[in-house]
Amino acid sequence: MLELKNQFILAPIKLGYSKDGKINQRHLNFYEERGEHLGAVTPEPFFLDKGLREIPTQLGIDNDDKIPGLQKLTALLHEQGTKVIAHLNHPGRMANPKIPGNYHVSSTDKACENGGATPEKLDTKGMQGVVNLFTKAAKRAEKADFDFVELQFGHGYLLAQFLSPQVNDRDDQYGGNFENRIKFPIQVLEAVKNSVDIPVIARLSGDEMIDDGIRLKDMVKFSKILANQGIEAIHVSAGTVCSTPPWYFQHMFVPKGKTWNMASEIKKFVDVPVIAVGKINASEDIQKIRYEGMADYMAIGRALLADPDFVGKYLQKVDGPFRPCLACSEGCLGGVKGGKGLHCVVNPRVGEILPEPELTEDKKKYAIVGGGLAGMEAALTLDTIGHDVVLYEKEKLGGQFNLAHLPPKKESLKRIIDYYREEIENRNIEVHCEEATREDLMNNGFSKIILATGAVPAVPPIEGLDEYYWADFLLEKNLPKDQRILIIGGGLIGIEMASKLTDNGNEVIIVEMLESVAEGMEMIEKALTIKKLKNNQVKILTNHRVVKIKNTTAELEVDEDEKIKTKKIENIDNIILAAGMKSYDPLSDELEDQIDYQFAGDAKRVGKAQDAIRSGYEVALSLRN
Ligand SMILES: Cc1cc2nc3c(=O)[nH]c(=O)nc-3n(C[C@H](O)[C@H](O)[C@H](O)COP(=O)(O)O)c2cc1C
Ligand code: SF4
Repeated sequence: MLELKNQFILAPIKLGYSKDGKINQRHLNFYEERGEHLGAVTPEPFFLDKGLREIPTQLGIDNDDKIPGLQKLTALLHEQGTKVIAHLNHPGRMANPKIPGNYHVSSTDKACENGGATPEKLDTKGMQGVVNLFTKAAKRAEKADFDFVELQFGHGYLLAQFLSPQVNDRDDQYGGNFENRIKFPIQVLEAVKNSVDIPVIARLSGDEMIDDGIRLKDMVKFSKILANQGIEAIHVSAGTVCSTPPWYFQHMFVPKGKTWNMASEIKKFVDVPVIAVGKINASEDIQKIRYEGMADYMAIGRALLADPDFVGKYLQKVDGPFRPCLACSEGCLGGVKGGKGLHCVVNPRVGEILPEPELTEDKKKYAIVGGGLAGMEAALTLDTIGHDVVLYEKEKLGGQFNLAHLPPKKESLKRIIDYYREEIENRNIEVHCEEATREDLMNNGFSKIILATGAVPAVPPIEGLDEYYWADFLLEKNLPKDQRILIIGGGLIGIEMASKLTDNGNEVIIVEMLESVAEGMEMIEKALTIKKLKNNQVKILTNHRVVKIKNTTAELEVDEDEKIKTKKIENIDNIILAAGMKSYDPLSDELEDQIDYQFAGDAKRVGKAQDAIRSGYEVALSLRN
């Protein structure tokens, strides 16, 4: 039976920190920081063969030369009393086609319908090759002192490509009915079990969330078979990397708790421990799963990125509220897919070699002007360092980010503002709800001023553009209904605004100068939002410029056939300006040569939430001494 010091397991998450497939100091730091209060850690999925990588910077277990590094990792975690799980996955047709040398095999010769390489349909010889890759990797994991092997049967990877009726189109003994489709996955399991003495856990998708894919009913049946095969535990996720990434990655756009229900359903039918996963990121979530007996263990991913002490704080072994994960996938999945490696919007230390704030021996007093994300982060970090801080905010703590949770299904973004406000209050940081004047800043004994005054909308030179709204149009009190609305700018803000406005019955037209819209938007959100806008008949005009507004008509220009053509949009009720932002700095001129100051966040350089928080943190760290 799975025996861990507590119910909590770090879920497998690709970090993208390795240059050569081997463990380095970044991995060791990352896992050590998270291991102490967990029953077990699952490091990122290891590639079984160099030609089967999902990202170029993935860790491998394809060769004995990886064993010493992996041993270092298991030793480190064992010192903390934490068990370590080697997650072994063969991606099949989902190996990354952009990595030179990668190859693609599957139960089928069809490519994933959402893009990807065309795979070679495995024959029995090829299947034996796959079995060998798994058993060799499992043996290396055992040699490297892992306590468990976890086999990936889900998420649309190779073994799921056999299980799934949507993908598996074989007419041999490995395709067709359920009994045939499970044959190869069970063959892999048996071979792995026979090759090592350490126990084996199964990870599967309780439901692929597509009509003709793997459904829960079948996975209950499969779980019973796994239990009879002597599996140690069953780890229940959802979705597939090909068709339903929002479910796989538990994006904020999918409802919380569906995966726990799947775990709970499977648990009714098996007598081995069941592990639940998916957006377990608040104390209430843990309590619900525990007290309703939905699962025996909980795998937690992103909540432990956002706050390495998420579980320690829940268990009251570490003080303080936890920094909440927003389920945005932007810094973590976005960082990994974008090639930068895993980062986190709310935790500036993930992915960066940034020191922890240490107490200063030279206490000073600082003013921060602007209580947006950068200002609030700077305030908390300066306070942690031991300096006195006074924070000036003329409106509401949170700044522009107070609007970020207003577009549909983005409520979870509000959690970070609530966290900052609560922490600022708990720590008795002095907040002045007023606009800071030169006199305030000069006459109160501050050593330095941090200007975190944010950004304002950039107004393009459009003739007649006098009346327009901005993102605050989304506030409930301003939100229009049944109007015809022109959005100037199809970037992230323009697209989000359109999504909310169409929900309210408005007819929306977006005009964007560039060739494409939603640049810089997190990829899952982008795919879902653009699809929704198309379904809702939102008109998106790319490569078009608004040049003039006259009464209720907008004049546009577009380059066509090397000529500039003009068009008109008539009967516009309201215009929204979403053509980018520019730094806002009302104070530096007045402070010049009078007192030292430094910019943070958008006031320094316009960026996203992740940049603002990191900037606030870095500025505060630079003021330690
Ligand atoms: C950046 C990132 C990479 C991930 N990579 C994998 C993976 O390679 N294999 C896998 O089975 N799950 C992977 N996951 C899914 C997690 O293991 C977990 O199931 C998911 O994040 C939901 O749990 P959470 O809400 O606690 O984060 C990944 C998740 C993230 C955010
Ligand atoms: S980037 Fe977003 S989803 Fe990912 S861990 Fe951080 S807060 Fe959570």
